[in-house]
Amino acid sequence: ITQRVITQGFYAEGYYAEGFYAEGYYAEGVITQRVITQRVITQRVITQRVITQRFILGPMGNPLFSVHDNLSPVVSVEQNFDSLLIPPDHPSRKKGDNYYINRTTMLRAHTSAHQRELVSAGLDAFLLAGDVYRRDEIDCSHYPVFHQMEGVRLFSNHELFSAVEGGELLSLFEPNGRRTPQKQEEHSLEAVKLLEFNLKSTLTSLIQQLFSPEVELRWVDCFFPFTHPSFELEVLFRGQWMEVLGCGVMEQRILRSAGAEHKLGWAFGLGLERLAMVLFDIPDIRLFWSRDERFLEQFRGGDLHRPISFKPLSKFPSLHNDISFWLPESGSFSQNDFFDLVRSVGGDLVEQVTRVDQFTHPKTGRSSECYRIVYRHMERTLTQQEVKQTHERIESAAESQLGVRGRY
Ligand code: PHE
Repeated sequence: ITQRVITQGFYAEGYYAEGFYAEGYYAEGVITQRVITQRVITQRVITQRVITQRFILGPMGNPLFSVHDNLSPVVSVEQNFDSLLIPPDHPSRKKGDNYYINRTTMLRAHTSAHQRELVSAGLDAFLLAGDVYRRDEIDCSHYPVFHQMEGVRLFSNHELFSAVEGGELLSLFEPNGRRTPQKQEEHSLEAVKLLEFNLKSTLTSLIQQLFSPEVELRWVDCFFPFTHPSFELEVLFRGQWMEVLGCGVMEQRILRSAGAEHKLGWAFGLGLERLAMVLFDIPDIRLFWSRDERFLEQFRGGDLHRPISFKPLSKFPSLHNDISFWLPESGSFSQNDFFDLVRSVGGDLVEQVTRVDQFTHPKTGRSSECYRIVYRHMERTLTQQEVKQTHERIESAAESQLGVRGRY
């Protein structure tokens, strides 16, 4: 995936414009095909279950949120980070965690990259779904491409306070205020509290509609450079608290830079595969890229309200193989480069990669690492021979591309 997209930046740039909906148009385009396949499922989750569930409808049944899902994932570094006040030295900018195409261009790491652009375009309430790209570890819940849905809603003085008794006397802003854990310096506490209430009740009802009215939820305080205050929503699922979304009151500087300085706004971002995995009991994130009809057919069909209970395909056995190597003395080795390489060479056969050993030679000072790669096919049983071939290709690619020296 990395290689396809980065070495053919033009391709990534063009694919939305031309071939996106025409499956097979770019027969060689891994991402295009996969994104389309995957849409079968995310569209079911978001478009059909969330969006039509009144989320985008106002009290009179009028559309409230506009919905966008065809913005190009190729964005500027400025959009992805600077426009959101993410500082130049922030760890989230690391080369090892992102897909940079060149110094100024990258694949978006989150849908928040489009906040400023859509607010600048004059939108007050929008939902934005799209594919996002991150370099990360390899296991059943991480994949280099996944999907997020972003929601933003802005409020004028009238919209926020008109329903409140005596609200015409209240103001969104406090001219000489201070930043506190509850609010930003420019905002009035009463405005922020109302906004926070609207944000939390909107999202609570969204999650209740998706899961069930009885679902157990909790709000956790957290930090994002582009919202303050910020929260995460966690859902209790099979005895474990699972984070499903991040949200908060938008930083006023962002609204100002987008020409919406006399409004206040909230924003949220949620991970769609995460949600779908929990909703449908899908055990492995790679299944979203499956072309197996037994998987896909479960998510088709015209009836929006038919509940889906995913029937897992039987799990085929896994095989594992270890790889050990000496790290290059330059110190240039990064784990995410290795994970990326394993995913590029091994494709979806790779289920999990974990470091099982680490060792520094007492005399020479050289370091060596050992990783265990678990191989499993979602749709059939792998042979030893097949795994051996893939494993050897990983070994030689690691030597030639990462400068490690194999200890095989
Ligand atoms: N962009 C954040 C993420 O990817 C989520 C988020 C969106 C948080 C909007 C706050 C507001 O983690």
